[in-house]
Amino acid sequence: MKIIMLGAPGAGKGTQAKRIAEKYSIPHISTGDIFRANIKEGTDLGKKAKEYMDKGALVPDELVCDLVVDRISQADAKNGYVLDGFPRTIPQAEALDAALTKIGEKVDFAIDVDVPDDNIINRMSGRRACVACGGTYHVVFNPTKVEGVCDACGGQLILRDDDQPETVKNRLKVYHEQTQPLIDYYTKKNILKSVDGTQDMSKVFDSIVAILEV
Ligand code: AP5
Ligand code: MG
Ligand code: ZN
Repeated sequence: MKIIMLGAPGAGKGTQAKRIAEKYSIPHISTGDIFRANIKEGTDLGKKAKEYMDKGALVPDELVCDLVVDRISQADAKNGYVLDGFPRTIPQAEALDAALTKIGEKVDFAIDVDVPDDNIINRMSGRRACVACGGTYHVVFNPTKVEGVCDACGGQLILRDDDQPETVKNRLKVYHEQTQPLIDYYTKKNILKSVDGTQDMSKVFDSIVAILEV
């Protein structure tokens, strides 16, 4: 099962992708998490990506596409995966399709987690992210058992650098300009499914499972 998660920054792509990955035993591949891990390790890729991420801009396609194509060709991705934060531009979607076509495969579902901009700004200030495993929490909507410590792996929770309100506004603008066109792209391919991302997290998850299991 090959699934793409679409949706604005903060819509809940990561939250839902993690649960999908657990339920179906497929890897959760988040380009944002990959970049943040590289930033933490101080790699060249991390240094380049940070310049864009801190401004709320997209990392250039050429730094993203090969990385994802390489990741999905690894052994653990043989039975499928859930892509979170990729593709984010039409050229990225085309690069993914081209890579899959070459091996006779295709994306099964593109799930759009729909949340209006107003809700997003509120959510972001309360988000906490685990640097170690990419787990995502919220101080009100999804708190950890111990403050500042990841339930899943015991890693340290941080407030992401790009979650300041001004940066979030720019990320939303970039989303509407560059990523939202993918909704049309996947609608034309007949694989787009929308869920109401303003419901509580387990309701959103139930809606997604209902789509995947028709
Ligand atoms: P990325 O890490 O992908 O960030 P994003 O798309 O901005 O999305 P977020 O991770 O902020 O939100 P989310 O939808 O995962 O929501 P979450 O589940 O955390 O990318 C970061 C940056 O990296 C980009 O800006 C770009 O620079 C670069 N980048 C990454 N991929 C790229 C690519 N392909 N091309 C180019 N550049 C790329 O939820 C948000 C909060 O809300 C959490 O606190 C959560 O607990 C809470 N929440 C979730 N669901 C609910 C709910 N139903 N009700 C209440 N609260 C909820
Ligand atoms: Mg995320
Ligand atoms: Zn963790």
